[in-house]
Amino acid sequence: MPLHISPLAKSHFEGLRRVLDVIAREKHYLAFFVAPAAEEAYAFYRDILTHNDSHYVALFENKVIGWCDVIRKPQAALQHVGVLGMGVHPDHRRQGIATQLMQTAIAKAWENGLTRIELTVRSDNAAAIALYERHGFTQEGLLRQGFLVDGAYFDVISMALLMEQP
Ligand SMILES: CC(C)(COP(=O)(O)OP(=O)(O)OC[C@H]1O[C@@H](n2cnc3c(N)ncnc32)[C@H](O)[C@@H]1OP(=O)(O)O)[C@@H](O)C(=O)NCCC(=O)NCCS
Repeated sequence: MPLHISPLAKSHFEGLRRVLDVIAREKHYLAFFVAPAAEEAYAFYRDILTHNDSHYVALFENKVIGWCDVIRKPQAALQHVGVLGMGVHPDHRRQGIATQLMQTAIAKAWENGLTRIELTVRSDNAAAIALYERHGFTQEGLLRQGFLVDGAYFDVISMALLMEQP
């Protein structure tokens, strides 16, 4: 099968950092403009495996082309909260890959005992906002001038999904 969704494993670290770097360099979506150095990125990925956080990669012909993670917050009063991050390589967008990644990562987050998943997204990132709303996320707030890219400010929207709607 050409496309496969897999839980993060050590063998994915290099490919995952590579796709993160491609998307970071687009300078449109993520809070950083290049991937962190390999050692820093791999330490972060190792932590995810140690904590059994929800993290899935999309593999196309055995190459990492996207990911979705939901990382539990470390603070005592925030143990029910996970932060969602994701990206799909520009050559593979609009093929339903993010949808598959999100469904899998969110299911695992609930299984892990989380009850709230939150994220932030640039207000001009229409694709991601539409994707999140399709998955039930609602907008909770606006971080005005939250991003500064090449001298231009962008507002950032905070969104969240609750396991059980009140
Ligand atoms: C946002 C992103 C992850 C979507 O990935 P994808 O694999 O292309 O998404 P899917 O094909 O699963 O699309 C699912 C739905 O999302 C919405 N969507 C995705 N891309 C869209 C676009 N370019 N414009 C409008 N809606 C879009 C649509 O509702 C789509 O459903 P449809 O195709 O039936 O209309 C991808 O565009 C991406 O990696 N962007 C850069 C990184 C990023 O923005 N990460 C999130 C930071 S907060």
